[in-house]
Parts: sequence; structure tokens; C-alpha cells
Amino acid sequence: MRVVCFSVLCMILTKIIGADDRSPIASDAIGCQTLDFVSEKLNRGLTALVSFSVSGTTELRHQIEQTTGKFTGSRDRIPEHRLIFKAENVGNSSVIAVKTHEIAQRLGSTDYNRAVIFVQNAERAIKDHLLRKQKLRIELIGSPIFDDYRSLLIDDTVFNVMKEYERFYESWAWYFKGEKHIVCEDVLLQNPKETLQRLVLFLSGVALSDDVYACVKERYMNETTDPIIGQEWQEVLKGVNGSYDRAKQRLEFYTQVKQSTNKS
Ligand SMILES: *[C@@H]1O[C@H](CO)[C@@H](O)[C@H](O)[C@H]1NC(C)=O
Ligand SMILES: *[C@@H]1O[C@H](CO)[C@@H](O)[C@H](O)[C@H]1NC(C)=O
Ligand SMILES: *[C@@H]1O[C@H](CO)[C@@H](O)[C@H](O)[C@H]1NC(C)=O
Repeated sequence: MRVVCFSVLCMILTKIIGADDRSPIASDAIGCQTLDFVSEKLNRGLTALVSFSVSGTTELRHQIEQTTGKFTGSRDRIPEHRLIFKAENVGNSSVIAVKTHEIAQRLGSTDYNRAVIFVQNAERAIKDHLLRKQKLRIELIGSPIFDDYRSLLIDDTVFNVMKEYERFYESWAWYFKGEKHIVCEDVLLQNPKETLQRLVLFLSGVALSDDVYACVKERYMNETTDPIIGQEWQEVLKGVNGSYDRAKQRLEFYTQVKQSTNKS
């Protein structure tokens, strides 16, 4: 009796939550959800999806969309993303999360109530940032006039971006006063199911079902490819891993401080 009751309750809950919108594809075992906007009734406030670089976030966005059944948005308006994410141009609480690479202080009159902070693998995120934001500098350093100073210039450039990476996460740890949920990239890779379960609970308050997870696993995992950069850069970049641990520690520290302040 209890089981029946439980499943009826489940059905009612799914109806209310509107997550029964599944369109089975390929096999019945895989229940991919049809995406929708967040209804006003279920709105938990404007949520930011925070990351330093674009590396790995496309995949995470897909995972969030499929596990919650809701669109993610952005305020960056990257044209290519409009082809991938249907709600790319939406930056309000009708999407489950709004992607941002802004440093927390620069948000100004910030209207985010909550944030999912994606702590990326430092080596890959810094490499990605270098390739996107400092392409000209990389080319210049590669030119023959800098032959004598190349390793010095590479060290200096990587060091600066590494500091930028640390400042970025520090800013979210310290300046952002809303509710935070931290997702560490290595934990997500090692333990995707549990990490996504916790993330979905934070985002929508709904439990992650096995068939939805099966869909995510089949379609939206292991897409990340390493950006390509010269060997000399590669060697220096191996030294940036400490930043990842520092970023993680700072975020965890401030989140705990906040939780204990709330309790007292
Ligand atoms: C969110 O933004 C979209 C697109 O700009 C708009 O159509 C929609 O009405 C907005 N929703 C809310 C709740 O503000
Ligand atoms: C996905 O990546 C993980 C970690 O890099 C690896 O262990 C796993 O075999 C990969 N899975 C697939 C399907 O490629
Ligand atoms: C850097 O950290 C990542 C994730 O924790 C790990 O997979 C990688 O092997 C580390 N690289 C080095 C050079 O230590």
C-alpha cells in the first residue's frame, strides 16, 4: 500500500512540477526531457551559473537543462550559443540559471539571489582563457624577436591569468552574499550522478530520476576536449594546479562561514 501511495504521490508531484514532459527517444529506457521555462510559481529566484572560462560549461549547461528539464540562459549573448541553447538570450528568472563569467564586484547592482559556482580545472580553464582572451599576446611572444625572453614572458603571462582565476573565484566567495552551491569539476567527473543530484536539488528542489540521468549520461557527458596550445606553454601550465585547490578552499571557507552565521 505504501508503495502505491508513494508512486501516486510521485505522479502528482511530477504533474505539479511539470516534469512529465518527456519525449522518449531511441530506447524507452532513456527518458530525455523536453525543456521548458521555469513557471513563476516554482521560481526560486534568479540564479547565476558562474565559471571563469567557457571550458566545460557548455557540457554542464546541457547537463543542467536535461536534469532539471528547464532552459538555461545567458547575458553574454554569444552568437554560436544561440544555436545550441534555445534560451541563450534570456537573462531573468524564467530560466533555471543564467551563465556568467563576470567577476562578482563587476555585477554592480547585482540581482542574482543564488549562484552555482563551477570551480573549473585550473589548467584547462586558464589555458582556455589564454587562448580566447590573449591570443594576440601568445602570437607575439611566439615571434622571433622574443626568442631570448620567451620563457620569462610565458611565465609572466600564465602567472597573471592564474592570479585572475584566483581573484575570480575569491570575488564570488567574498562579494556574493546570496545562496551558493559549489560544483567542483574534478568531483563532477569522478562522481557525476551524486554531484548532479545535489545540483538539481539546489536548482529546482526536484529529485533526479534514473531515466533522466541515463539520458544525460548517454548524450551529455565527455564532450570536453582540451584546448591546444604550444608545448612551452603546456609545460608552464602544469604548475597552476595549486590555484584550483586554493579557489575551492576559499569558496568552501566562505560558504561555511556564512552558514554558521545564519545558524547563530
Ligand atoms: C524574461 O525575459 C524574456 C525575454 O527577454 C521575456 O520574454 C520574459 O517575459 C521575461 N520573464 C520574466 C519573468 O521577467
Ligand atoms: C569519460 O571520461 C572519464 C574520465 O575522463 C573516463 O573515465 C570515461 O571512461 C569516459 N567515458 C566515456 C564514455 O568516454
Ligand atoms: C591538475 O588537477 C587535475 C584535477 O584535479 C588533475 O586531473 C591533473 O592531473 C592535475 N595536473 C597536474 C599536472 O597535477
